[in-house]
Amino acid sequence: MTVILDGKALANKMQEDLANEVTEWKNKGYRIPTLVVILIGEDSASKVYVKNKEKSAQKIGFNSIVRRLDITIKEEDLLSIIESYNQDDSVDGILVQLPLPKHIDEEKVLLAIDPRKDVDGFHPLNVGKLFVGDPDMHPCTPYGIITLLKEHNIQLAGKKVVIIGRSNIVGKPLIHMMLNEDATVTIAHSKTKNLKNETLTADVLVAAIGQAEFITSDYVKEGAVVVDVGMNRNSEGKLVGDVDYQDVLPKVSAITPVPGGVGPMTITMLMEQTMNQGRKYCG
Ligand code: GUN
Repeated sequence: MTVILDGKALANKMQEDLANEVTEWKNKGYRIPTLVVILIGEDSASKVYVKNKEKSAQKIGFNSIVRRLDITIKEEDLLSIIESYNQDDSVDGILVQLPLPKHIDEEKVLLAIDPRKDVDGFHPLNVGKLFVGDPDMHPCTPYGIITLLKEHNIQLAGKKVVIIGRSNIVGKPLIHMMLNEDATVTIAHSKTKNLKNETLTADVLVAAIGQAEFITSDYVKEGAVVVDVGMNRNSEGKLVGDVDYQDVLPKVSAITPVPGGVGPMTITMLMEQTMNQGRKYCG
């Protein structure tokens, strides 16, 4: 029997728990956690992501501030807006939606966010803390993956984990999170030779490739756990992952669906990290 790693169900449960905690705080007269999301320009995917973050934050009962800025904003003006939120003690989390317009230096922006409020886990200090095995804020997608696997009691210690995709948002941070769980980690990418040779050794295979239904059953070891980070439209316009779900399903011991797997966990970890910040400074 294949276990379906239902991220939507776990995300709903975690968000309900957060909402209950916020209600308790309200009843006690505590300050409520505040999340600021900064959106620059009109990128349609970014607008959808930001809307979803806003909806979740509001459902939980956080103060949700979405700061929409014109695409022509000067870098120095953006940096001073970030600094004003850094200085504001009522703000617990600050997130700048990526990608940024070309005239703005992403590294400068990420460095400008107070690392304690960096609920996305992208500040170089937080990246470094994760690297040395002393994490504080985590990037939300890989954190969601680890949380989902742990919820299902999937052992990682001593297991061979193969990650396909070396992005700063998913693949690279996941290396360190898996290492922190005592897994043996391989990272593959577009220049990897004989990808199948790598994937067929995986006890846990994580696909973050960005190509619809790329991973078919011949890439997967019998009984493996498969985590699908992909979000693509197939030729019929249907939302699919990087894994050919129906083909792989009979061969694996556990798999994340798309939609309803990793996606809902990402937003939930953002909320969890905002709450965690509130746990330190509210009340
Ligand atoms: N753009 C795509 N994914 C993300 C994310 O997780 N955080 C931010 N800030 N921007 C993104």
